[in-house]
Amino acid sequence: MKVLICDPVAPTTIQALQEAGIEVDNRSDITAEELLRDAANYDGMVVRSRTKVPAEVIDAATNLKIVVRGGVGLDNIDVKYAQSKGVSVCNTPKASSNSVAELALGYMLALARRIPQSTMSMTAGEWKKKNLRGTEIAGKTLGLVGFGNIGGLLGKKATALGMNVIFYDVITPAEPGDARQVSLDEVFAQSDYISLHVPLLPATKNMLNAEAFAKMKDGVYIVNCARGGVVDEDALYDALVSGKVAGAAVDVFLDEKVNPGNPKLFGLKDDNGFNKVIGSPHIGAATIEGQTRVGAEVADILIEFYKANL
Ligand SMILES: NC(=O)c1ccc[n+]([C@@H]2O[C@H](COP(=O)([O-])OP(=O)(O)OC[C@H]3O[C@@H](n4cnc5c(N)ncnc54)[C@H](O)[C@@H]3O)[C@@H](O)[C@H]2O)c1
Repeated sequence: MKVLICDPVAPTTIQALQEAGIEVDNRSDITAEELLRDAANYDGMVVRSRTKVPAEVIDAATNLKIVVRGGVGLDNIDVKYAQSKGVSVCNTPKASSNSVAELALGYMLALARRIPQSTMSMTAGEWKKKNLRGTEIAGKTLGLVGFGNIGGLLGKKATALGMNVIFYDVITPAEPGDARQVSLDEVFAQSDYISLHVPLLPATKNMLNAEAFAKMKDGVYIVNCARGGVVDEDALYDALVSGKVAGAAVDVFLDEKVNPGNPKLFGLKDDNGFNKVIGSPHIGAATIEGQTRVGAEVADILIEFYKANL
């Protein structure tokens, strides 16, 4: 079995595959053109979020039997088409959940205490202590949109820190803990913080749009560690300008290349000249622990598949 690694994975993943007898081509910076040209040479592919596997790649990959996505979202793979061609598609749904939940939690604390803004201010040689009075998150209401692996973990952590947790989800979880399931409009109306943890689907695209922002409390904080596109970035911009949204933390963007639209959000300042938006370049799952778990799970999936199909 010959596997193409299309995006970076831990060296231990490659080692585990090779030790199991799987031939590995580690081309973690492969371009879309190279992938299309060489796809027929492989029985398996490993991708993260960078590499796209559309129908034309699946058609070109005449020997392909399995695609493993190290991570959660499968939006970069044409899953239905792959399956229609007999290609298995797997992901590692829980391996990075805790890392993303911790980032979202960190963002809530960072927004409440304006930690990045303080750092930027001190880096500029300022001592604006009087302008940096923050708020506590304890006693505040966190509204989670999506209560799956990540939303559920964040709910538990936020409850432990004294937040009231409500959530909206299309399914009713078996163990919601202390979190309370409500309607989407109730999440909008009651939350001091809204954190998004749904996949990007037609039903979730622009879930936070102008109409949704209008239903929220004045001064709400928004955290998006889910997917760009779940929040309408222009509507978020307007809501930040009007003051409806006090601040936002964004890890994921509609266009994740260098985007001339993003500086627009990051250029927004409050009355004291502090950023209203803080953010990161899609680092939710990027922890040593999360990546180690992702890498181990990717190797396990491929080795199991290899042994079952020897
Ligand atoms: N920032 C990052 O690096 C990063 C890393 C991993 C995952 N993610 C994103 O986080 C999302 C959530 O991950 P997860 O592991 O918790 O997924 P999950 O599948 O465990 O949970 C998603 C939840 O959303 C719910 N949902 C689906 N459609 C909905 C709708 N229309 N309305 C309300 N709820 C709906 C589902 O019922 C489910 O409970 C992923 O889909 C991915 O887009 C981001």
